[in-house]
Amino acid sequence: MTVLLTGGTGFIGSHTAVELLDAGHAVVLADNYSNSKPSVADRVTAITGQAVVAQEIDLLDRAALERVFQEHEFDAVIHFAGLKAVGESVAKPLEYYTNNLVGTLNLLQCMRARGVRRLVFSSSATVYRSDNPVPYREDYPTGATNPYGWTKVMIEQQLRDLAASEPAWSVVLLRYFNPIGAHPSGLIGEDPNGIPNNLVPFVAKVAAGVLPEVRIFGDDYDTPDGTGVRDYIHVMDLARGHRLALENIRPGVQTYNLGTGRGSSVRDVIAAYEEACGHAIPASVAPRRPGDLASVYADPALAARELGFTTEYSLLDMCRDSWHWQTTGAVAAA
Ligand code: UD1
Repeated sequence: MTVLLTGGTGFIGSHTAVELLDAGHAVVLADNYSNSKPSVADRVTAITGQAVVAQEIDLLDRAALERVFQEHEFDAVIHFAGLKAVGESVAKPLEYYTNNLVGTLNLLQCMRARGVRRLVFSSSATVYRSDNPVPYREDYPTGATNPYGWTKVMIEQQLRDLAASEPAWSVVLLRYFNPIGAHPSGLIGEDPNGIPNNLVPFVAKVAAGVLPEVRIFGDDYDTPDGTGVRDYIHVMDLARGHRLALENIRPGVQTYNLGTGRGSSVRDVIAAYEEACGHAIPASVAPRRPGDLASVYADPALAARELGFTTEYSLLDMCRDSWHWQTTGAVAAA
C-alpha cells in the first residue's frame, strides 16, 4: 500500500514508517515539524535503506494538504498528527481544539474528495473514563478530563459518525497505552521539546545527568508499592500494531487497545532504567500530580484475537533502547 502518515516524523510516526517500509509498503511523511525534525526522514532512510518522501505540511493548511493528495495516490492514511501535552491543553484549549479537530476535519475532507477511505487513527487510553475498572476493555465508556483527552474522544466520535453515514469507510481507532523506548539502532526516538512531562523521557534525562532527580508523583496510591501503575509499551511493538491494523483493515470502525496488558509502577520503571544505564538514578517522592490515576493497563485480548497482535519487548528492553537513544541518537539530533 501507499500510505500517508500525518505526523510522520514524530515519535510513533517515524517508527511506524520504518515498520511499513520494511514490510514493503510505500510511505509519505507529512509533518509541520512543531515537535519533530526534518532530519528524522533521513534517519528512517538510513535504517531502511529506502528513500522516503517527507513534506512540510500543516493540516490547518487545507490547500497544501489537497496538493499532497493530488501528487500521490494513497491507499490509506495513518493519522498521528496532533498536539498531545495534557497540561498545555488545559492552558491553551482553543489551540488544541483548533489544531486537533480542524486538522482532522481537513484531512477527512481531502480523503473523501480523493476517494481515500481507509484510515488508522492515533487514539489514546486517555479516552477511557477514570471510573472504569482495570484492565480497560474497548467497550468501556469513554470521556475525558482535559482538552487533549476530549480531542481524542471527539475525533473518535467524528469517525464513527462518518463511517455510519458512508459505509465505504474503513477506520481503525488505536488506543495507545504508554509508548516508550526507541528504535534499537538509536537513530530515532522520542525527542520532546523542553523538559519532558512523561515519566520515561524524564528518567532518561536524569540518568544522563541533564536533570537532577526524578520526582515520584505520589507513593500512597492503592498499588503494590504505592506508586502509579501504567502499561508501558515499546514503540517498536506499537509500530507493528499499526501495520497489522492497516493490513487487516475492513469496512466499518474497529477499536483496539495497544498495550501489553501488564502494569508497571513508577518504582519498577526507575529500577529497570537503573539496570539499563548501569547506575543509580536519584529520585524522591513528591505530591500526587492532579488528574493522575492509580492504575491504568489494557486488556489486550481483542487486538490479539483480531489482529494477531502480541507484544514482544520487556520493560527492560524498553529502558535499554530509551537509554541507547538518549546517549547516541537524541544527542546527535539536538
Ligand atoms: C500521560 C497523559 C496521557 C497521555 C500520555 C501520553 C496525564 C495526566 N496523562 O499519561 O493523557 O496520553 O501521557 O504518553 O498527563 N510520573 C512521575 N514523575 C514524573 C512523571 C510521571 O512519578 O516526572 C508518574 C505519573 O504519576 C504516572 C506515571 O509516572 O503514574 C506515568 O506518567 P506519564 O508518563 O506522564 O504518563 P500518563 O500520566 O500515564
